[in-house]
Amino acid sequence: MPLLLGVNIDHIATLRQARYAHTPEAANAEPSPLVAAFDALEGGADSLTIHVRGDRRHMQDADAFRIRAAVPLPLNFEMGVTAEMITIALALKPDFACLVPESREEITTEGGLDVAGRFAPTRDAVAQLQDGGIRVSLFIDPDLPQVEAAARSGARMIELHTGCFANATTDAAREAEITRLTAAARAGHAAGLQVNAGHGINYTNISGLWAVPYLMELNIGHSIVARALRVGLTQAVREMTQLMAGYPADTAAARPHSS
Ligand code: PXP
Repeated sequence: MPLLLGVNIDHIATLRQARYAHTPEAANAEPSPLVAAFDALEGGADSLTIHVRGDRRHMQDADAFRIRAAVPLPLNFEMGVTAEMITIALALKPDFACLVPESREEITTEGGLDVAGRFAPTRDAVAQLQDGGIRVSLFIDPDLPQVEAAARSGARMIELHTGCFANATTDAAREAEITRLTAAARAGHAAGLQVNAGHGINYTNISGLWAVPYLMELNIGHSIVARALRVGLTQAVREMTQLMAGYPADTAAARPHSS
């Protein structure tokens, strides 16, 4: 089974909000995340990721419900660990929820969730969501205590934060990050977790991840949306799926079951 691509289309909404944030009809304005979702489907996306942030800076609640109702792709709902978002998720019923840290000042999700340090609220959120039929992923830094805490929390998946890998500026730093990601992926797999990865992955650095075993899905947003300005979103997604076919079969074959 090939490496799966989850396409994060938040930045389509970012562009729309740049003009229409304060108008009542914002959710109907252009560019449309719903249209983008269909373009991603056509390009071969395996799932969609949307993040309704507490400050609603890009995706709006209406976007999430429209996409959920109309687009025949698994939906990954990225969310902060808050009562408000848990209520929305339980109503939205996405296929997956990915719990992320969220702070108002950050430009994007900047670090992993501190599952080890905030274990009880994370475990409780996982239980509420999974009791509601939503498989939960925890977005964590590739550190063993976080992987271990994620496994204890009852979550079914982890998404390893690849931001440090993506931001590394020397070969030595990149190699160190791959070593870190590899250890975390092995530990996650050994604990029975599905191992995904995401953040900062682009058309150039993606092949660096081929050394990391047990990956099931990559979640990619910014680079695909940026490429879409040149070639259109469908083609940008297609190009990424073509690159992802390079994930080595021997690495992929050892994946855990996905149920
Ligand atoms: N995964 C998670 C948990 C994220 O928060 C983000 C950014 O919204 C991504 C993946 C995608 O990152 P990028 O936009 O850098 O590809």
